[in-house]
Amino acid sequence: MYRRFTLAAATALALLPVSTFAQSNELVLYCSVGEEWCRAQSEAFSRETGINVLMTRKSSGETFAQIKAEEGQPRGDVWWGGTGDPHLQAAQEGLTEEYKSPMLAELQAWAVGQAETSGFRTVGIYAGALGFGYNSTLVTENPPACWKDLLDARYKEDIQVANPNSSGTSYTMLATMVQLMGEDEAFAYLKDLHANINQYTKSGSAPIRAAATGESAIGIVFMHDAVAQTVEGAPIVTVAPCEGTGYEVGSMSLIKGGPNPEAAKAWYEWALSAKAQEIGATAKSFQVPSNSNAATPPEAPKLADIKLIDYDFAKYGSSEVRTALLARWDAEIGALPK
Ligand code: G6P
Repeated sequence: MYRRFTLAAATALALLPVSTFAQSNELVLYCSVGEEWCRAQSEAFSRETGINVLMTRKSSGETFAQIKAEEGQPRGDVWWGGTGDPHLQAAQEGLTEEYKSPMLAELQAWAVGQAETSGFRTVGIYAGALGFGYNSTLVTENPPACWKDLLDARYKEDIQVANPNSSGTSYTMLATMVQLMGEDEAFAYLKDLHANINQYTKSGSAPIRAAATGESAIGIVFMHDAVAQTVEGAPIVTVAPCEGTGYEVGSMSLIKGGPNPEAAKAWYEWALSAKAQEIGATAKSFQVPSNSNAATPPEAPKLADIKLIDYDFAKYGSSEVRTALLARWDAEIGALPK
């Protein structure tokens, strides 16, 4: 009797800690901000909670595609960062969980707006405006100030932007052009611009790193990514295009059916806190944080000074519109010879 009890107890004990451990001490994070910020944020969370973070950094469109591919057998718990449009598409396609955090009360209106648009399946964590940066040692006369200036023949194969399928930055540009010009005009613009593009990169911020080293003259990126290069000492000048520009509400979503739901919630609440949002600036990420009590880094481009369009997140983050625009980009721009 005694022996049987011991065995049963030992078996229970052997099983219990394993499952409890897996539930509370591990988090699988899909991260779509810059690598340095992904690492700093993961390490800070691990230090504070003891939860081990298994982090993968991929661009926004790539992460969306991965979560979609893993539908029904999700391996990730939280998708943190990256542009809001693919987070909205994931919400619409039922890939992410509905959750109303008590932290919503501390967030800026644009971050709560993102949550409302998605039926509370995603939430805004930061904002930033699209623009471009140029290398001032390579572009010395009449520097570009407007989107139309980028069509100048003197920039032949001297501009970089990412591919909008993999990159949320580049999709934000595509959707911005459509909203500024109308769809056909936007594609005509992108076709003309193609002559000046030397490469469509996978990651959204790669083009400004190439401009910083002088491999390329101009990079079309979020303005805060261009500012980060200047802060690092590169001769990069950041431009808010004269016609007006779009912006992102960088977002976070809980992946439906992820393996560690408790750890995922712990990350979610923590990531919305002012203290956690101030980690970005320490990793040279100069977005505007969504928590109203978090300090906005002084380097962050001032959204109030930029001519921002009234970006229609519900429309351009919808499955139908995003899928159709990307298909048209593949057919009309991606297929052009280089
Ligand atoms: C950079 C920016 C972020 C943005 C992200 C999107 O990391 O700093 O603000 O959300 O790019 O990355 P992607 O590679 O998808 O364009």
